[in-house]
Amino acid sequence: MNKTVLITGARRGLGLALTKQFISNRWNVLSVIRNDKGINELKELPNCIPIISDITSDEVQSTIHESLKENGAVDVLINNAGIPGSGAHLDETIANEVLSLIDVHCIGAFRVTQAVLPFLSKDGVVINVSSRFGSISKVSKGELDNVKCSYSYRIAKAAQNMLTQCLCREFKDKGIRICSIHPGRLTTEIASSDADRTAEEAAKKLFSMLELLEHGKFYSLFEDIIEW
Ligand SMILES: NC(=O)c1ccc[n+]([C@@H]2O[C@H](COP(=O)([O-])OP(=O)(O)OC[C@H]3O[C@@H](n4cnc5c(N)ncnc54)[C@H](OP(=O)(O)O)[C@@H]3O)[C@@H](O)[C@H]2O)c1
Repeated sequence: MNKTVLITGARRGLGLALTKQFISNRWNVLSVIRNDKGINELKELPNCIPIISDITSDEVQSTIHESLKENGAVDVLINNAGIPGSGAHLDETIANEVLSLIDVHCIGAFRVTQAVLPFLSKDGVVINVSSRFGSISKVSKGELDNVKCSYSYRIAKAAQNMLTQCLCREFKDKGIRICSIHPGRLTTEIASSDADRTAEEAAKKLFSMLELLEHGKFYSLFEDIIEW
């Protein structure tokens, strides 16, 4: 029987590339998109079921629940949806933007994970798509000082990383694997100034690493383990 992956933020960028990568490997894909923009492209893909829901809405949980009641177990969950922020300095940053980004990157991943976990297979995998900018270790060592990134994005990805670690502690020794991944510097709509890889390359690499991913780790797809 085909395995199933649920991917958020699947309309474009890494989410769409992941959708196509899993489909080409004969997986069933449940692709969460925030509105019906782009739904036709997904509908044309074999074994792809689009789920329209905004992950910042509490309704995302009942929408996913209904879909999974119909479509069965999930083997892999990829919390991928994300948005960029704007201000890279304190005086350019609006508090509401920080809240909005936390809502997408952290609370959105929280909502979706809470909805999917009862349907996750016993040896299932949860991957939170994080970023090097969420690493407090990297930021505090000044390793990213030369790359512009918003306050809100760095704070939201760090919050998501804490969610990942909370989940890792709670579900330690339960058979499932939960980890974070920095997908590389991708040439997508939210590309950083030093972007150098396509979303397709990242999707292929992530798929090839699936069996090797260890619980509790923070991976950089094209480099090494990242310190939290
Ligand atoms: N690009 C990079 O270099 C890079 C590096 C490190 C980490 N990441 C992370 O990788 C992930 C994917 O990024 P990407 O580069 O593929 O960006 P992208 O091309 O901008 O795609 C992001 C996707 O997330 C969706 N999304 C945003 N908010 C949503 C919401 N509330 N509900 C449902 N879907 C939502 C967007 O939907 P719409 O299409 O409707 O706008 C879009 O399809 C993000 O988490 C990002 O932070 C990216």
